[in-house]
Amino acid sequence: MTSEKSMNDLLIDREPVFWVRDVPVYGDVILSPMAGYSDVPYRSLCRAYGSSMHYTEFVPAEALLGRRNPLWRRLDKTADENPAVFQIFGNDAQMILRAAKRIEALEPHIIDINMGCSTRRVSGRGAGVGMMLQPELVAETFKLLSAHLSVPVTGKIRLGWEDQRNYIDIARIMEDNGAALIAMHGRTKEQKYGDVADWDAIAELKQSVSVPVIGNGDVRSPADIDRMKSHTGCDAVMVGRGAIGNPWIFSRRQRESVSFVEVMQALRLHQGYMVDYYGLPHGLILFRKHLRYYFKGLPVKPILSQMVVTEDLERFNQLLAELEASVLFQLEAAGPGNRLAW
Ligand SMILES: Cc1cc2nc3c(=O)[nH]c(=O)nc-3n(C[C@H](O)[C@H](O)[C@H](O)COP(=O)(O)O)c2cc1C
Repeated sequence: MTSEKSMNDLLIDREPVFWVRDVPVYGDVILSPMAGYSDVPYRSLCRAYGSSMHYTEFVPAEALLGRRNPLWRRLDKTADENPAVFQIFGNDAQMILRAAKRIEALEPHIIDINMGCSTRRVSGRGAGVGMMLQPELVAETFKLLSAHLSVPVTGKIRLGWEDQRNYIDIARIMEDNGAALIAMHGRTKEQKYGDVADWDAIAELKQSVSVPVIGNGDVRSPADIDRMKSHTGCDAVMVGRGAIGNPWIFSRRQRESVSFVEVMQALRLHQGYMVDYYGLPHGLILFRKHLRYYFKGLPVKPILSQMVVTEDLERFNQLLAELEASVLFQLEAAGPGNRLAW
C-alpha cells in the first residue's frame, strides 16, 4: 500500500485524468456513495489505497434546512479529501437549492444530486430515481444550482424508472442546464441491484454528452475496471459493493493476490479510523458490518461471532489476535500454494 503522504506526493506530479468543470480528478477509480458505508473512516481507507474522488452518503435536502441534526455528520470530510463530493437528494428544486447553498459553507468541491436511489421511501416521493420521471424538475434543479452555486453540480442517475430507460434524455437535460459530470449506474429502478448492469448504455451515454461520465455497476476486480473503461469509454469507474472489504481494488489489485497479513493491516487501519472518528463503543459497533467482508472464505466463524457482539475494545482486539493466530496457523499447516482464503 502507498501511504497517504506518499500518495499525496505522487499526485503533485500527475496530470489530472479528467476535470469536473474546474476541479481536477487524478485517477479513474472512485468509491461509490453508499449509505452506511462511505463514511469518513471508509473513505479515508479507500483514499489511502488509491480511490481518487469521494462521495458522501446521501443526505435528504430537508434535513439540511432546519437545525443541525445527526445527518449533518454525513457531510464531514477530512482536510486532505479532494475532491470531496457532497451528495444530496430531494423532490423540490427550490428546497434542494436552499440545502445546497447552506452546505456550500462546509466547502465541498462538488455537490451531487442523487437521482438513482430506488427505495420506495425516496423514489416514491419523486426524489432519487423518482426525479427521472420529472424532466422539468431535473431541468429546474440543475439550472438553479448551476446558477447559484460556486462549486460544480453533478448528478448520479440510473437507466430509468422501468423499461422506458430515459437516461439519454435526462442526461442531456442535465448537461443543458449546467451539470458538470454524470455518473450512471447501469440498472433501472425496477432492477434495483439485480440482473447484470448494462454497460452498453453507459457507452451510449458517453457518446451522447460532452461532460465527463462515470460508469457504475458490477465492477468487482481490476479486470472489470479495464473492461468497463474499454467497453464504454467512460472517464472513470465507480465501485460500490465490490469495494466493501476490498480497498485493494483502488490499487488495481486482484483480491485473491492479497495476503492475509495485508488483510489484517487494512482491517486494523480501518478499525482505528472507525474508533477515532465515532468513538467507543459506536465505532466498534459500526465496524461489525465490515468484518465479514474482510474474512470472506476464511474459517473464522466461531471467533467472528464473538467479535460482532462485544462492545469492549480490549476484548475485540484480543479476539482479533486469536483469529489472526488461528488463521496463520492453518495457512502454515496448509503449506505453500494451499490457500485457505477466497
Ligand atoms: C448499501 C448501499 C448503499 C448505497 N447508498 C447510495 C447512496 O447513498 N447514494 C448513491 O448515489 N448510491 C448509493 N448506492 C448505490 C451505489 O452507489 C452503486 O450505484 C450501486 O451499488 C451499483 O454499483 P456496484 O455494482 O459497484 O455496487 C448504494 C448501494 C449500496 C449497496
